[in-house]
Amino acid sequence: MAILKVARLGHPVLRMKAEPLPVEKIRSADVQRLIDDMVETMHEYDGAGLAGNQVHELVQVAVIEVEANPRYPDAPVIPLTIVINPMVTPLSEEIEDGWEGCLSVPDMRGMVPRYTAVRLDCYDREANRVSLLAKDFFARVIQHETDHLNGIVYIDRMRDLRTLSHIAEWNKHWLGVREQND
Ligand code: NI
Repeated sequence: MAILKVARLGHPVLRMKAEPLPVEKIRSADVQRLIDDMVETMHEYDGAGLAGNQVHELVQVAVIEVEANPRYPDAPVIPLTIVINPMVTPLSEEIEDGWEGCLSVPDMRGMVPRYTAVRLDCYDREANRVSLLAKDFFARVIQHETDHLNGIVYIDRMRDLRTLSHIAEWNKHWLGVREQND
């Protein structure tokens, strides 16, 4: 396994669309190694998720996991989820603002509106079809990672760039400022 280099904001790969992975290739050694490396990279940098673009691979693969995470001390636990060729469908019109960060936008936080509940249809790493319903923080992370695969970063979704904060200032001035419902 290896820790991969993470592209930061400004690298064009973050603005490109990742290609769907042919289902018959999901179980190949190359794809399995990429998934293992992405999981290791996400752990190394305490990310809640990581998408292919972020490690310079334009394939529709993302990994998501939240354990006890020092970058998101209040976040609920999300088991390791491997997301391949995702389709995300909002389950209601309800949108909620919440704080996000991104390993490609280091040391920053911003308030981002997201659907509070989505259905995710994708493949897992064994090439099984998966369909799951996600709410709240899990739904948020799914939307954030799927956006990456479409060349979108969270800053593009922000309604008010004045909440964009360096983490040190965020800890002083914004920590504990709760989400506002729409
Ligand atoms: Ni990100």
